[in-house]
Amino acid sequence: MINEDKTQIERQRKAYLDEWVTHYRSYATKGQTANYIPALGKADLSQLGICIIEPNGTMIKSGDWEVSFTLQSISKVISFIAACLSCGISYVLERVDVEPTGDAFNSIIRLEMHKPGKPFNPMINAGAITIASLLPGESPQKKLEFLYTLIEKMIGRRPTINEEVFRSEWQTSYRNRALAYYLKETGFLESEVEEALEVYLKQCSIEVNTEDIALIGLILSLDGYHPIRKEQIVPKKVARLAKALMLTCGMYNSSGNFAAFVGVPAKSGVSGGIMALVPSSFGRELAFQGGCGIGIYGPAIDEFGNSLTGVMLLKHLAQEWDLSIF
Ligand code: DON
Repeated sequence: MINEDKTQIERQRKAYLDEWVTHYRSYATKGQTANYIPALGKADLSQLGICIIEPNGTMIKSGDWEVSFTLQSISKVISFIAACLSCGISYVLERVDVEPTGDAFNSIIRLEMHKPGKPFNPMINAGAITIASLLPGESPQKKLEFLYTLIEKMIGRRPTINEEVFRSEWQTSYRNRALAYYLKETGFLESEVEEALEVYLKQCSIEVNTEDIALIGLILSLDGYHPIRKEQIVPKKVARLAKALMLTCGMYNSSGNFAAFVGVPAKSGVSGGIMALVPSSFGRELAFQGGCGIGIYGPAIDEFGNSLTGVMLLKHLAQEWDLSIF
C-alpha cells in the first residue's frame, strides 16, 4: 500500500514536470546559445531536460534529460572541492576568496582594483583558473587525472572530454588567457599560464547529462555522503563550503536574484547546464523532505550566462514544491 502510494506520487510529479518542461521550452527563443565558444553555438536551442534524484535513489526525468553537454562552469564546484581535498581548505582560501563580485563571470576588473589581486571566489573564471593551477601533479594530465578520479567516484564512470568544445575554446580563449597572465604576474597562479588554461578548459569540456549533475548535487545535499556507494566521499566541511559558494556566487551576477526567487544552492554553465540541490528539511510539507539533487539542461542562455529556460523551470518548481531553503 505504502509503495503504491509512493509510485502514485512519483507518477504525479513526473506528469507535472512533463507539463512544465513543455511550457518553458517555448521560451527558448528569448535566449541564445553561448556562441562566444564556437562549438557551443551549434546546440539545439529548444532543448530542455531535467533529472531529480532523491537519497533513496528515486529518480524523475523529463524532456531532454539524456542529452550530453559540457560541464563548463559547473566544473568549478568540483575543481574547488578537488583542490580542498588535495591542499586543504586554508591553503586554497589563501589564494582564492569566498566573496561574490556582482560582475560577469569573466570580468578582470576586480583583480586590479583590489590589491593584492586575489580572485574574489572560485566560481568566476579568475578564481577557477587559479584553482586549476593548485590541483596536485606537475603536468596538466596529472592535475586532470586527480579531477577525473573524483568525478568517477561521484558519477560511477570515468568522464570524457568533448574534444571539439575543448579545441574551440582553446583557440578563442583570449579573455581567459588575459586573466591567467594577470594572475601569473601577481603570483596567484601556481603553474605556467598555458598549463593552468589547459586544465581549466579541459575540465569545462567534460561531458555529462542531467542525471550526472543531479547525482553530484545530491551528494552535496547530503554534505558529501554518496548514497549509492554508501561512503563519505567529500568531507562535510568542504561540501558545506562548496554549497555556500554555489548559493552566493553560483549563478554569477544573478546569484542574488536566484537566491531571492528560487532559494537553493545552484551552479550554472554556459552550455546550459544547472546543477542544483535541495537540502533535507523536515519542515517542508510538499515534497522532497529528504533533500534531492537536480540536474537541468537548456542551452538557451540569458545575458548572465545562465540557462534561461532552466532558471524559469527551477523558479516554477521552487514555488510549486516549496523548495526554498529560506
Ligand atoms: O571560460 C569560459 O568562458 C567557459 N569555459 C565557462 C564559462 C561558464 O560556463 C560561465 N557560465 N555560466
